[in-house]
Amino acid sequence: MQSKMIQGVEVPEIGLGTYKLIGKTGEEVIKQALRMGYRHIDTAQNYLNEKEVGNAIQASRIPREELFVTTKIDRFDLEPDKFLKAAEQSLLDLKMNYVDLLLIHWPNPEVEIRRTLEAMLSLRDQGKAVHIGVSNFPMSLMQEIIEELNAPIFCNQVEYHALLGQFDLLDYAAEHDVMVTAYSPLGQGKLITNPLLLELGQKYGKSSAQIALRWLVEQEQVVAIPKASSAERLQQNMDIYDFELEDADFYAIDDLDKNMRFINPGFAPDWNS
Ligand SMILES: NC(=O)c1ccc[n+]([C@@H]2O[C@H](COP(=O)([O-])OP(=O)(O)OC[C@H]3O[C@@H](n4cnc5c(N)ncnc54)[C@H](OP(=O)(O)O)[C@@H]3O)[C@@H](O)[C@H]2O)c1
Repeated sequence: MQSKMIQGVEVPEIGLGTYKLIGKTGEEVIKQALRMGYRHIDTAQNYLNEKEVGNAIQASRIPREELFVTTKIDRFDLEPDKFLKAAEQSLLDLKMNYVDLLLIHWPNPEVEIRRTLEAMLSLRDQGKAVHIGVSNFPMSLMQEIIEELNAPIFCNQVEYHALLGQFDLLDYAAEHDVMVTAYSPLGQGKLITNPLLLELGQKYGKSSAQIALRWLVEQEQVVAIPKASSAERLQQNMDIYDFELEDADFYAIDDLDKNMRFINPGFAPDWNS
């Protein structure tokens, strides 16, 4: 597994997305992924599976420092006291003393972001979160927290894949050495029937999913967290390092229409702000 160097820290480029990996079955998938070599795991308070993630990691006996674990705190818990309580609960459920990356899951305009950031920084100072960051933050909010509030942001986790563009955010992330974690990197599975990705899959002897993931990790600052639940797919999503996209193919994927957003709940921010 290759890594991206972000702010001097190595982060495995492919992580396991765990949304919907719940209960015993979900726990088994996470265990299997760890056995196969996944070392980057993405969870969230509201996936209701932090216990499963914790159990799987404990059972794996992989030294904690070899793992990169991210969790996210709900937008209803951004008031500092609630945030601190939620983060402590996450650590209990995950059965660990710290997470590598603690994120605000979605922005919430009802809570002044400066106050949430202070709570996050206190957790960082106590060693309970090595890095802090955000998720689903459009450019204007990124600029506010980085330029006005000087927040030491490590990551913005956003929907990003071959059918949704994030060009401005990527430029900004490169300028400030911020990681962009691509969530739903396979468009929740809908990308795998894309004709161009299928055609390129044939050319390189890979699946369309592997082409989609390879295109992401070939980009500066980008890591991806595909979710899969079979051994075959888990393996496929890691096996993207024995080929490289030719420039023309990389740019052909770049040129696909980029307006297909699959995750857009009513409380989402104005993505173009
Ligand atoms: N921050 C946020 O607000 C946010 C929002 C959404 C997601 N996320 C994170 O991002 C992760 C990934 O996103 P996602 O779960 O929405 O979607 P995704 O990873 O884009 O797609 C997952 C779907 O693709 C299928 N799949 C996986 N590998 C495949 C392969 N090699 N070939 C064919 N199909 C394949 C999976 O099937 P099976 O599972 O049946 O194998 C599943 O149906 C989540 O699990 C979560 O950790 C974060």
